[in-house]
Amino acid sequence: MARAVNRPYMGKVHVSLEGKENMGKLAGKVALITGAGSGIGRATAILFAREGAAVMVADLVPEGGYETVKQIEDAGGQATFFQVDVSKSSEVERMVKSVVNVFGRLDILYNNAGVQGGYAMTADMAEEHWDKMFAINSKSVFLGSKYAIPVMLEQGGGIIISTASVAGMIGTPGVAAYGASKAAIIQLTKAMALEYADSNIRINCVCPGTIVTPLMAASSDPDNRPPFRQAQAMKRLGQPEEVAKVALYLASDDSSFVTGTAAVIDGGWTAGIPKWKPEKQG
Ligand SMILES: NC(=O)c1ccc[n+]([C@@H]2O[C@H](COP(=O)([O-])OP(=O)(O)OC[C@H]3O[C@@H](n4cnc5c(N)ncnc54)[C@H](O)[C@@H]3O)[C@@H](O)[C@H]2O)c1
Repeated sequence: MARAVNRPYMGKVHVSLEGKENMGKLAGKVALITGAGSGIGRATAILFAREGAAVMVADLVPEGGYETVKQIEDAGGQATFFQVDVSKSSEVERMVKSVVNVFGRLDILYNNAGVQGGYAMTADMAEEHWDKMFAINSKSVFLGSKYAIPVMLEQGGGIIISTASVAGMIGTPGVAAYGASKAAIIQLTKAMALEYADSNIRINCVCPGTIVTPLMAASSDPDNRPPFRQAQAMKRLGQPEEVAKVALYLASDDSSFVTGTAAVIDGGWTAGIPKWKPEKQG
């Protein structure tokens, strides 16, 4: 794929955040969201911008990123695009430097970019598949946090959110590498939360169930996939906006005493196995 010049797309960005203090839950804040060119990341970028944040939309794919920026600007918000491969240390470092250059600070880092893959039994899994899942899904969270935390310490605080998955909490046959890469995010979240709890940096992750996004559609072979829908007690799939609302809670002062948590957004999937209910008595 041809790489765009790795320079933030300025769009109609107005970098002054003055006068925005009373305009939403994230007024005056600067958010950096990876994987924001699609699905959960895009829905969150749009919601954060609506709540007053200036948003750096980071993604590997420029077309999706520009579209998210356009949707934010059309709604009157502030956004800029940065092309990044979140598995590459030098690119993630440049991304964090860039958000500070453009907006002057970094209040919220949302490590959301991720990939899934074909379903295979572990003995049949290619080693490259394992490495790819861990590089894009887990190492990216380490890298983003590694470069953002010094900025946040310097500023006196900040918020880090990452997208894990219920696949990191319960076992799913055929999804071992993806599940393990998401479990790593939950553990990294807890360790980092403890490390920086007394530095005013709150660090949490979200664990979505099955959410209707291009990732879900592209990575699912309809004839050979786990029965995700049946696994959810609510018997429907989730929408990206339903994850974005929890991310907003974690990004805002509404969650001021919350750190080190893995917030489950799964329609009841991991609450148990809703196969049996008692007959009504009396
Ligand atoms: N959709 C679900 O059911 C579901 C469930 C649990 C967790 N998740 C997680 O949610 C996150 C977002 O997924 P989504 O469902 O919105 O998928 P999506 O495919 O709609 O969006 C993912 C985005 O990440 C970007 N991306 C992929 N690799 C990248 C890289 N190396 N560098 C930078 N950007 C990259 C893609 O270009 C895309 O825009 C992922 O971490 C995914 O694992 C999704």
